[in-house]
Amino acid sequence: MTNEYPVTATCGGDSLGRLDHAVALISQCFEQDPAAAYWLNDKPHNERIAYHPQLFYHLLKPAALLGAYFLEANTWESTVVMIPPKIRTDSVWISLRAGWLKNIWHLGYGGCKRLIFDYAGTIERAKKRHMGDKPYFYIFQVATLGEHRGQGLSSMLLYKCTEIAQAARTPIWLEATTEGSKRVYERVGFKVMEHMSVGRGKCDANGEAERGGDGLTIWGMKWVPSSVEIYSMPYEAT
Ligand SMILES: CC(C)(COP(=O)(O)OP(=O)(O)OC[C@H]1O[C@@H](n2cnc3c(N)ncnc32)[C@H](O)[C@@H]1OP(=O)(O)O)[C@@H](O)C(=O)NCCC(=O)NCCS
Repeated sequence: MTNEYPVTATCGGDSLGRLDHAVALISQCFEQDPAAAYWLNDKPHNERIAYHPQLFYHLLKPAALLGAYFLEANTWESTVVMIPPKIRTDSVWISLRAGWLKNIWHLGYGGCKRLIFDYAGTIERAKKRHMGDKPYFYIFQVATLGEHRGQGLSSMLLYKCTEIAQAARTPIWLEATTEGSKRVYERVGFKVMEHMSVGRGKCDANGEAERGGDGLTIWGMKWVPSSVEIYSMPYEAT
C-alpha cells in the first residue's frame, strides 16, 4: 500500500504530553464504537458522548504514565497507542494514580461490571490463552478522524508498530471491535486468533441494551515478527 500524499508520523517524546491530543481524537472517533456503547449503554447517547473525554482520559492515562507509545499521523489526524511488553496498566496503584475513582463513581455498578468484568475480563482471558506469559506489545487504541479515513493513516501507524515489534522480535496483540477495523488489521498482517462474545443475552451487536441479544463480537488478533527482515514501510517517521 502506498500513500499518494505526504504523511508524517511521530511516535517518540513525552507520552503524558501527548495524552490530551490522543484523548480528544479517540473520544470523537469512538462515538459509534460498539464496545464503548456497551460500557455506557445505561446512559442516553448525549450523556455518553459528553463523558467520553473523561472516560478515555482515565483509560489512557495509566498507559501514558507507564511510557506507552503514542503514535500520531499528520499532527493528530490519526493515532495508535501501543503498550510495551510486561507493562500492566490495570494495577490498583496505577489506576488510583490515574484518577480511576472518579470513573468508578460515574460508571456506577452496572458500567463497572460491563467494562471491567465483562469486557476487560473476557479480553484478559483471551490474551492469556494466546500470548501466555511471554512478552508481547499490546495495541490498546487505534483511531482516525472521520474526514481523514481511508487514506492509509492508521495502516501506516500500525506498520510502524510492527516495525518496532519486529526490531524487538516480539509479537503484538490487539482486539478489533468492528468488521471494518478487523479488515484494516488483517491487511497489515494481524491474524484472528479468536472470536469473543461479550454481553450475550444482555446487548445487541452494537452494544445497546437488549434482553436476549446476541452480544458484541470482538476479534482477538495477533501479529508475529518474521525471522528475516523482508519489508520496508511506507512512512516517514521522526
Ligand atoms: C478503523 C479506523 C481506525 C481505520 O482508520 P483509517 O485511517 O481509515 O484506516 P486506513 O485508511 O489505513 O484503512 C481504511 C481503508 O482505507 C483503505 N486505504 C488505505 N490506504 C489507502 C490509500 N492510500 N488510498 C485509499 N484507500 C486507502 C484501506 O485499504 C482500508 O480499506 P477497507 O475499509 O476496505 O479495509 C477508523 O475507521 C476509525 O477510527 N474508526 C472508528 C474507531 C475504531 O473503530 N477504532 C478501532 C477500534 S478496534
